[in-house]
Amino acid sequence: MLKLGILGSGKGSNFQAILDAIDRGDLKATVAMVFSDVENSGILKIARDRGIPAEYVKPGSFRFRMSPESEKYMGEKLKSAGADIVVLAGFMRILKGDFLSFFSRRIINIHPSLLPKFCGLEAWKQALEAKESVTGCTVHFVDAGVDTGEILAQAEVPVLPDDTAESLHARIQEQEHRLLPEVIVKYFVAP
Ligand code: GRF
Repeated sequence: MLKLGILGSGKGSNFQAILDAIDRGDLKATVAMVFSDVENSGILKIARDRGIPAEYVKPGSFRFRMSPESEKYMGEKLKSAGADIVVLAGFMRILKGDFLSFFSRRIINIHPSLLPKFCGLEAWKQALEAKESVTGCTVHFVDAGVDTGEILAQAEVPVLPDDTAESLHARIQEQEHRLLPEVIVKYFVAP
């Protein structure tokens, strides 16, 4: 059975969607470990409530990336926990170096825009400010850039005339919750 390593920084709704897909039997996988760079994040609570090993990892002194020591620590732990792939479910830091090469083409990320448009933070706000009529979300392989890896799948979300940043992000998240488990099944679960 496919073993997932999960990294996240936020409330963990995409992680919850993965657990729901597992519970429904749509995703034949188990979660080996969850790591977060945010000590009191929702994603760690969801994991712990379910008895899944979950750890806070100090990000180090960089603002937007994990320290090399923390990357090494997570990589080794995920290896020994037998993780086949790593899913970034709202993980807000850049990964580099050994972590990427060890899990080469086995790390995926969910991003709230139709990449290559609107990389980086608060991509739904960027779409709103650019007066796009359609935005969405993307699942892609992770490389050393910011939201630049090979695209695996996308879902479109219309931008409505009265959308606020919050309403648009909420509708994008509905699509994220459907798309992310689907991509894991399609690309990583043997038929
Ligand atoms: C999502 O919008 C995802 O696209 C972005 O971070 C957010 C995470 O949300 N990378 P959650 O923690 O899964 O609820």
